[in-house]
Amino acid sequence: MRQLVRKLIPVACRVWLRRVYWDVQDYCERKLGLRDYLTPPQSLIDRITQGDYKAVGREFAKHFIELGGLQPHHKVLDVGSGLGRMAAPLTSYLKPPGEYWGLEITKDFVAWCKESISPRHVHFQFLHCDIYNASYNPLGKEQASSFIFPFENETFDFIILSSVFTHLLAPDMKNYLSQISRVLKPGGTAFITYFILNEESVRLQTGATSKFHFKYPTEGGMYAFEGKPEAAIAFSESNVRTWALEAGLELVEPIHYGNWCGRDRFVSVQDIVIYRKVQSD
Ligand SMILES: C[S@@+](CC[C@H](N)C(=O)[O-])C[C@H]1O[C@@H](n2cnc3c(N)ncnc32)[C@H](O)[C@@H]1O
Repeated sequence: MRQLVRKLIPVACRVWLRRVYWDVQDYCERKLGLRDYLTPPQSLIDRITQGDYKAVGREFAKHFIELGGLQPHHKVLDVGSGLGRMAAPLTSYLKPPGEYWGLEITKDFVAWCKESISPRHVHFQFLHCDIYNASYNPLGKEQASSFIFPFENETFDFIILSSVFTHLLAPDMKNYLSQISRVLKPGGTAFITYFILNEESVRLQTGATSKFHFKYPTEGGMYAFEGKPEAAIAFSESNVRTWALEAGLELVEPIHYGNWCGRDRFVSVQDIVIYRKVQSD
């Protein structure tokens, strides 16, 4: 049936029908009060994930606490905060003087977070920065490779990048690592997800259970979709280690490998890396 629908209805038409469907659903949910204030409309969620928005948020809040050592009084920066998927579960965990800052390049996402989350949780703030990304903000005016995070040195205890370095090119990622290091307090933590290429993932990723196959070369790694490096990009494990160290971030062993390549023992979908900012004597 699905295949028949695919054959009969052209792609553009299917995208349009899907949008109409989500718009009607959003309207009904709003009118009937069926959606809680921390859940965005499906038409927006659809632009960042096909997965279960709430379940992923809950999963990651647990990882931040159990793997990363996040504490309620921490000052948190979420780079590429999207639609508040990580912010939402943290609203019941972070307590003042703890606070949360989301930095995001997609205007609609920031608008939703500002309107829905900040008024009820005033220690949660969201900033829009007009940075270019071919997949998320193709008209962006600033370059990620030279962008300076709008925060003072040594401001944050904990910095999150979930599913962000999986969409950034090497020069962007290197600049972000140095900005992360600059705005982290000494001893502070960066919790970052990647697609990491190493001997095991490169072997597994050609198998039937792999979700991605990174086969097009780019600086420091490979990308998955022809002509669209920022749609999904993977970096070699040696770069994930050395570029961070060059920026002053020490990797906290072990790396928590994911199942994106079809691993049967894993923590999440993407690989999770925790870094600690090196403390100067
Ligand atoms: C797959 S989404 C993940 C969103 C969020 N971190 C989450 O896990 O729900 C990737 C996000 O990164 C953002 N992004 C892409 N390039 C960025 C950049 N250079 N700086 C900050 N955010 C960026 C996108 O706009 C998008 O919201």
